Amino acid sequence: MIQSSLLGGLITAAAVQAVQPGAVKPVAAPMRDLTWGQINFLHTTDTHSWVSGHFLEPSFSADWGDYVSFSQHMRKLADDKGADLLLIDTGDRIEGSGIYDSSTPKGLYQYDIFAQQKIDILSTGNHELYKAYSIDMEHNTTVPNFKENYVASNLDYIDPKSGKRVPQAQRYRKFKTKNLGLNIVSFGFIFDFDLNANNSVVQKVADTVKEEWFQDAIKEKPDLFVVVGHVGVRMEEFKTIFTAIRKEDWDTPIAFFGGHLHIRDAVSYDSKSLAIASGRYLETIGWMSIDGIAKKHPKDGDKDGDKDGDNTGEVEIKKGPSFTRKYMDNNLLGMYYHTGLNETTFPTKEGQKVSKMIEEARKSLNLGHRYGCAPRDLWMTRAPYPSKDSIFSWLEEDVLPDIVANKDRKDKPRLAIVNTGGVRFDIFKGPFTRDDTFTVSPFNSGFQFVPDVPYDIAKRVLGILNSETRIFVDGLPNTRQLTIPQLMYPRPTFESVDEIETVDDVDQDADETEARLELRGVDASDGNDNLFGGYTTKDDIGKDGDDTVHEPIDFYAVPNCVQAKIGFSAEEEPKTVDFVFLDFLQPWIIPALKFSGGDYNAKDIEPYMDGTLTSKLAEWIGDNWKEECQ
Ligand SMILES: *[C@@H]1O[C@H](CO)[C@@H](O)[C@H](O)[C@H]1NC(C)=O
Ligand SMILES: *[C@@H]1O[C@H](CO)[C@@H](O)[C@H](O)[C@H]1NC(C)=O
Ligand SMILES: *[C@@H]1O[C@H](CO)[C@@H](O)[C@H](O)[C@H]1NC(C)=O
Repeated sequence: MIQSSLLGGLITAAAVQAVQPGAVKPVAAPMRDLTWGQINFLHTTDTHSWVSGHFLEPSFSADWGDYVSFSQHMRKLADDKGADLLLIDTGDRIEGSGIYDSSTPKGLYQYDIFAQQKIDILSTGNHELYKAYSIDMEHNTTVPNFKENYVASNLDYIDPKSGKRVPQAQRYRKFKTKNLGLNIVSFGFIFDFDLNANNSVVQKVADTVKEEWFQDAIKEKPDLFVVVGHVGVRMEEFKTIFTAIRKEDWDTPIAFFGGHLHIRDAVSYDSKSLAIASGRYLETIGWMSIDGIAKKHPKDGDKDGDKDGDNTGEVEIKKGPSFTRKYMDNNLLGMYYHTGLNETTFPTKEGQKVSKMIEEARKSLNLGHRYGCAPRDLWMTRAPYPSKDSIFSWLEEDVLPDIVANKDRKDKPRLAIVNTGGVRFDIFKGPFTRDDTFTVSPFNSGFQFVPDVPYDIAKRVLGILNSETRIFVDGLPNTRQLTIPQLMYPRPTFESVDEIETVDDVDQDADETEARLELRGVDASDGNDNLFGGYTTKDDIGKDGDDTVHEPIDFYAVPNCVQAKIGFSAEEEPKTVDFVFLDFLQPWIIPALKFSGGDYNAKDIEPYMDGTLTSKLAEWIGDNWKEECQ
């Protein structure tokens, strides 16, 4: 057990300007200090192109340029300490914010802005793989931008011209750190994803670890393994990699960096390893430090030479590695705090250049254009569903009945189904911009329908889509893929591998895991009333992971899908309905209708209307939220 929260100090709110014009000012809060080790890491994941930062959330309003400045200062601090610092990114860099989604072609500015950060090890997420286009862009743009730092252990690319299958990037990366000369062997994985476009091939992790190159790589006896991956830290895939490495090498420390589930989390697989997940949407910059690494070849390139007396390498190798982790809010004041700088001394030339690139891209894309003014906050998980503050209730009751319309079939009663995972962010009271349409609804999904479905059959589909994965419906893909990432994997707790004896052990832990999925709702505030609401993470190490002390925020679960009844009243039971659904749901709809007694197939599906959920949402807001913001 790590010592309880030691508060490092209080950052104060000087006259600070968040770099993107129009963003709210950061808030001050009590802070916890970072612990430095021999090797230290900054980790981003699931940034989903939020390079502009959060305009309406004071805890997260720094932008990618501020992160560039921050990392430059942190590298300097590492140099001064004779320590090392590596930057990691674990994928889902695209889709989710206007700077990627609103340009033609997509990512016109995003790829270049992202590449301004010097990242030492990066891997691919599922969002880079849904479309042939974004797979090509990884291959011909992101991989060349990051060269040997991009690692693709279980991902191949199919060349459009030759049809040849090649690794998307190198399988693993072996290198020596700058200051201590530590030998690192690193891997870059993606979970066993199967909805990828056909110009890519994802190899199952369990098969990859059997490959000869992998078996050779884990025999390298480096000073440290670094496994990065677009994988939840409690998912089976990381456990498989951990077990495979440990079979070959029982004592080299392993640092895991994961993501995908949009949460802050840390798991200790054994005493010589730690896995962290660093949230989402550029809300979180993860930190890991490792000390007590025993260098296997002490003379080998050690610039430190132990002049700082930290016993690196030469002698003390008995005590074993120690790990720390922190989840930093993407808050400019926090960045000042951790670097000991201020508004004058913090921004670097390179950081300011990136902030300028973002500002100009936003102007070109007109992302600040205001569609309307949100009259109240609408929450994905901070308000119960159904309720007046739930974004899903608002969609069901206010938006879908207005937008789901086809003039040739306007007299037909209809059911309209949307999956909750199709909505990706809250709406805050205040200005609602073009950018916000993409953060709330980043996907390109339009509406399709099956005409004239008997109501008795149609009304059963929602229940099937919202049921547990365990329900057996022939041909129905896993329904967990329909919901928001935080709820996708209520998977077994990943205890240290040797603690898991039987399958029963795993199941008994499942409830506890489920209850703290969002990891935001645990009180760490010691009853202090003056705190700002935010992440209050509890992970396997303790409650002191967040760098900023916050008031906890509530988390409510949501169903996989919600449904609007349109053109008939709640008491009525029409004979037939037009069964309307978001494109994304198509693979689930036919099996669910079949299971309900409807003999339909893909030929029965037709487009229902023009426009996407995103474009229709923008129109609706323009029509309905015309009031000026106060
Ligand atoms: C990369 O691939 C995309 C999608 O096929 C294409 O539009 C783009 O021109 C390519 N870029 C380069 C530099 O080849
Ligand atoms: C992928 O699918 C598209 C459309 O069905 C097809 O044109 C293309 O040849 C396929 N590519 C590969 C590599 O199989
Ligand atoms: C920032 O720090 C520098 C160097 O310590 C100091 O000279 C300057 O007055 C500080 N500026 C502000 C606004 O606090």
